[in-house]
Order: sequence, then structure tokens, then C-alpha cells
Amino acid sequence: MPLAATNDMQPAIMTENLVRRFGENIAVNNLNLTISRGEIFGFLGPNGSGKSTTIKMLCGLLSPTSGQARVAGIDVNKDPEYIRSKIGYMPQKFSLYEDLTVTENIEFYSKLYGVTGHAGNIRKKEVIELVGVGKYHKHLGRELSGGWKQRLALCCALVHNPEIIFLDEPTASMDPVARRELWDLLFSLASSGVTLFVTTHYMDEAERCSSVGYIYNSRLIVSGGPDELKQVREVVGQDNQRYEIACRPLVASFNIIKAIEYVEDVTIFGQALHVVVPAHINEHQLRHDLHSAGIALQSIRPIEPSLEDVFVTLTKANIKYDEEMRQNRLSSLRPAPSGVAHVR
Ligand SMILES: Nc1ncnc2c1ncn2[C@@H]1O[C@H](COP(=O)(O)OP(=O)(O)OP(=O)(O)O)[C@@H](O)[C@H]1O
Ligand SMILES: [Mg+2]
Repeated sequence: MPLAATNDMQPAIMTENLVRRFGENIAVNNLNLTISRGEIFGFLGPNGSGKSTTIKMLCGLLSPTSGQARVAGIDVNKDPEYIRSKIGYMPQKFSLYEDLTVTENIEFYSKLYGVTGHAGNIRKKEVIELVGVGKYHKHLGRELSGGWKQRLALCCALVHNPEIIFLDEPTASMDPVARRELWDLLFSLASSGVTLFVTTHYMDEAERCSSVGYIYNSRLIVSGGPDELKQVREVVGQDNQRYEIACRPLVASFNIIKAIEYVEDVTIFGQALHVVVPAHINEHQLRHDLHSAGIALQSIRPIEPSLEDVFVTLTKANIKYDEEMRQNRLSSLRPAPSGVAHVR
């Protein structure tokens, strides 16, 4: 029996102190998330930080060690079976039936979800058209490229018309054009009211989400809208300024700049460096000091933090915190550094 009827006013996903342990290892540590309906939520974090484990718990495939989670209004602890009928799940390693055709793969998932009869045929046609796999309908699973396999996986995850879809690194093996096309598809799904929970390592994809969460070492360290996160106090201090500096050679310059006494942070971003200095060091002074240090400066300009800056800064703050905790220099009462702790 369903725990609660689906209600449009309820968030699509809500977790409260959700924990998953594997033996001594904590894969997900006290996760608190609220995701509204129709949202595209991007879930980011380094390898092994707990993203897939979170998704598996929310899909009712892995039971939480403790804590609560409701997905489409249903308690994951009480009715995981019912949740599976309400959601679509595209796992990180989706296993297609390689020796079945595209049509047969879709047919298999349709039967699994009870999408049959006349209405079922209409739905199948609809998703095949939406995802664009029709032109390959006679191809075997093993004959598809990585990107088309992902699309077929999405098609199979959508066939039962789920209200929430979990996509675990859906674009991992895709070229830039295929990635963009998949995102266009995700936007059209979201505009029709479907909620999307997407893990990714790509910052440009994170920027496209309506809200994002960043998990580090099993803890959610920040969540909120991409623009909101760029205002996080720990990242945009009143007393420092971030510059984009183009100079050559990049790596040698990185090491020289890092050694300048007042420089708070340096990161390589593509062909340039992002450098954080105290606010009292103005651009003129910085130019002068870079020149004196032997840097062949091409350009310099003050910039706002990017989403990657936000994650890098907060991760560094958390690493420092963990290190200090290990050395027992902090009171156990001091909270871990974090940014905005909510999702709209
Ligand atoms: N079935 C399992 N048994 C034991 N440990 C596991 C299991 N599944 C995950 N873990 C551990 O839990 C932690 C989180 O893993 P998880 O797969 O959730 O990370 P992730 O963020 O999805 O990483 P990636 O970006 O590499 O996909 C890791 O330390 C991993 O080794
Ligand atoms: Mg994973």
C-alpha cells in the first residue's frame, strides 16, 4: 500500500539525516535535501563521494542505514516497490541487452513496467520520437555508439511516464553535440513537469541546472541555485578579490604566483589562472608584483567566482577542517564549513 498519495504541493524529493554505511565506511553522511517538482537538480562531487549511493537509496534499490527520505511523497523505508513505479532510473553503468534490437530493448522495459496494450503502444511511440532513437530501431544494442546507448537507456527509463527521473552521469561518454542534445531533451522533460535528479562532473551542465548540490567525502557541503551559490560568504569574502590572469607558460607561472606571500588561492582554469588576493591589493599593485616576479602577463581582469570556484573553495575549506579535526585542534562542537544549506 502506498504510504501517501502523490500531492503536487509536496516536494518531489526530501531527505532528512539520510545515512548509508558500508561496514566502517560512511558513503552518505546525514544528507538533508529538498527538491521541488519540475526542478533539474544537479548532484556533483568527486569520485567516491556518495552520489550513486544516494541515488540508489532514493530509487528504493538500497536501504538507508538511518534517516528518512520521501520520493514522490513515498517513504523509501516503507514502500520502495511503489517508488520504483513512480520513478525512472538510468544507472551509471546501464546494461542494455546487447543482442536485442533497440525496439526489443524498449519492448522489454515496457513489459517490465506494465506499459502494454493500445495506450502502451502510443507511449512507446511517444518516447521513441522524443529521444530520437527511431532511426536505429533495427540496430542491435551492441552496434550503438556510447551516446546512442545512453539515449536508448533514457528511452527505457521514460517508457512508464515517471514523474521523477534519476540519471547517474548520463552524458559521461557523449561528445559535445550529443551532450547538448541530451540536455535539450532534459529541459523539455522538466518543462512538462518531470523532476530530474542528475549527477555530473561537468561544470557547464551544473550551470544549466535550476539547483545544484555538491557532496564531498559523503557530506553535502553546499546546495542551492547556481547564481545563489556564487554569493556564498566563504567564497565571495568582503575582503578579497578574484582575478583572471592570462600568462605563459601557465604551469610555471602558477607556481610563481602561488609563492607570492599575500596570494590566498590560485587555480588553473583552461588557458588562464584564477587568483584570489586580499581586497587591499589593487589591480595596479598586483600587475606590478607579477611583473617583478618575472611573470609574462598577457591580460588581467577582476572576475566573479564560477561554480567551479565555489566547489573548489569549499572543498579546500572542508579538507582543512578535516585535517584540523584529525589533529584535534578544533572543538568537536564547531560545525563543518558549508555554504547555502538548502535547495529552493
Ligand atoms: N556496494 C558497496 N559496498 C561497499 N562499499 C560501497 C558500495 N557501493 C559504494 N561503496 C562505497 O561508497 C562510497 C561512495 O560510492 P559512490 O559510488 O556512491 O560514489 P560516487 O560519488 O557515485 O562516485 P563516482 O563519481 O566515482 O561515480 C565509496 O567509498 C564506495 O567505495
Ligand atoms: Mg557514481
